[in-house]
Amino acid sequence: MFKKIALFFCLVLVSVSLVAQVVGAGRAVDPYRYSLSKTETLPSAAVVSAHALASQVGAEIMKRGGNAFDAAIATQLALAVVYPVAGNIGGGGFLLGRKSDGKTVAIDFRETAPAKASRTMYLDKDGKAQTAWSQNGHLASGVPGTVAGLFATLPYAKLPFKELIQPAIDLAEFGFVLSENEARSFNWTIGNFKKYSTRASAFTGRTEWHTGDTLIQKDLANTLKRIRDRGAKGFYSGRTAGLLVAEMKRGGGIVGKKDLSAYRAKSREALEFSYRGHHIIGFPPPSSGGVILGQILKMLEAYPLEQYGFQSPEAVQLIVEAERRAYADRAEHLGDPDFWKVPVAQLLSSKYLKKRMADFEWGKASVSASIKAGDFRESDQTTHLSIVDPEGNMVAVTTTLNGAYGSKTVVGGAGFILNNEMDDFSIKPGVANMYGAIGGDANAIEANKRMLSSMCPTLVLKNGKPYMVVGTPGGTTIPTSVLQALVNSIDFKLDAASAINYPKFHHQWLPDVVDIETGFPEETRKKLESMGYTFRLRDGIGRTEIIVIGPDGKLHAAADKRGEDSVAGF
Ligand code: GLY
Repeated sequence: MFKKIALFFCLVLVSVSLVAQVVGAGRAVDPYRYSLSKTETLPSAAVVSAHALASQVGAEIMKRGGNAFDAAIATQLALAVVYPVAGNIGGGGFLLGRKSDGKTVAIDFRETAPAKASRTMYLDKDGKAQTAWSQNGHLASGVPGTVAGLFATLPYAKLPFKELIQPAIDLAEFGFVLSENEARSFNWTIGNFKKYSTRASAFTGRTEWHTGDTLIQKDLANTLKRIRDRGAKGFYSGRTAGLLVAEMKRGGGIVGKKDLSAYRAKSREALEFSYRGHHIIGFPPPSSGGVILGQILKMLEAYPLEQYGFQSPEAVQLIVEAERRAYADRAEHLGDPDFWKVPVAQLLSSKYLKKRMADFEWGKASVSASIKAGDFRESDQTTHLSIVDPEGNMVAVTTTLNGAYGSKTVVGGAGFILNNEMDDFSIKPGVANMYGAIGGDANAIEANKRMLSSMCPTLVLKNGKPYMVVGTPGGTTIPTSVLQALVNSIDFKLDAASAINYPKFHHQWLPDVVDIETGFPEETRKKLESMGYTFRLRDGIGRTEIIVIGPDGKLHAAADKRGEDSVAGF
């Protein structure tokens, strides 16, 4: 008995001292006891992300003098630990920032196809596309870009990298408690982790996870320490790279040492356009997000959306038809601009977009070409964080492993999950990827090419001042979720939380259906059905994180109600 009590006290003491180490003294972030905060109005700084602990880490970094870029680095690293379903160091993404001096920063850390990748790599001997290979296991993985992205962000940050990564190291080393959803999600995936990895990992350490269990990730902590001590080289060369390549060899993957050492994040020129007096800043190719968003907004601008009414049949029909046209262009024209001439200026030109809507008919559904497209077979797991700091810097980052837990391959001995981003290429013309999107030459697989994305981190200015930071996961639904946040706020004057939480709808040209969430207005659905539209009920579309800056400078931050997303700030 005495032994048991002594052990209990010993554990309490250990855990208190460990907690104190997470983001320093003062127990600012307590990984064993935390709660969610869905909406907050804050005077100075806000972080909204998919996990309360990650948001708290970002806010704490800003309290210590870091800016929004510091917070973006620390929050992403924390997400890689506490939100392994999508947070990552084995994936990629896009960061869009606007500094308080007006400079725009667009960092592309999208994965690349390995040097050994080819157009035929997912075709079987009969030429049939095998999406099982592009979606699961070692062959599904592109060369990870996240760590390079973090170091490309560092010049805009203020604090030393060691301080920004330490909270993630502590969370991995000493653990954090699992929520019911997290435990359930691991239990669903344990079988796949075993199937698609060649070594045991922290996730397979138990046969069943329960609410309140502590997830400790020692291998991941050691990988993060190597990154802390050696910078990007701690990931792209040396032991971590060796472990990744060994995992590839054991599992039949093709990411090699040279792929890793050659990987570079790229600076891009952000897309900038106006919408009803607002200045929108979006991400350019290789994401399709900014182009699609710009095209749809420009098509809508000619119409008095507000007069039609929020989710009225007129408003929904118009938006659906604009979406249909933008996604048809995505399939044909968008890809990695370093490999394919993407006609961005033409796609966004007012003249072209006016012509694009010329065949739109009120009261009648247009018809998308009848190319067979796939269903949504897997949950669409990407993750987004929105940040505003006390200096007025804004940062939006969307990052992904692609599907939930990516390829489900955990790098043996290194503890991180690899993406299954190769599926975002068009693996064969006309064959749908896991989001039902099709493509052709523009997005065909080529060595070292970046696969087309839909991620859409977005910044908005009003009267030249910061107005909104927004973004979401959701595969091909990402641009239309961001679109709805924008029109809900700008046209329909909804507050931050309402702008993201109302049931959403989505159309992507093919498949020719309107996806809706539960709670979408019945009357509007029936009216559109009578015009020839087909509807499909879907689970939650996206998990949008938004910060709207009011005229008084206050930050109205809202975390999507659909998940355990959470706001932190001060
Ligand atoms: N993997 C989802 C996207 O990049 O769009």
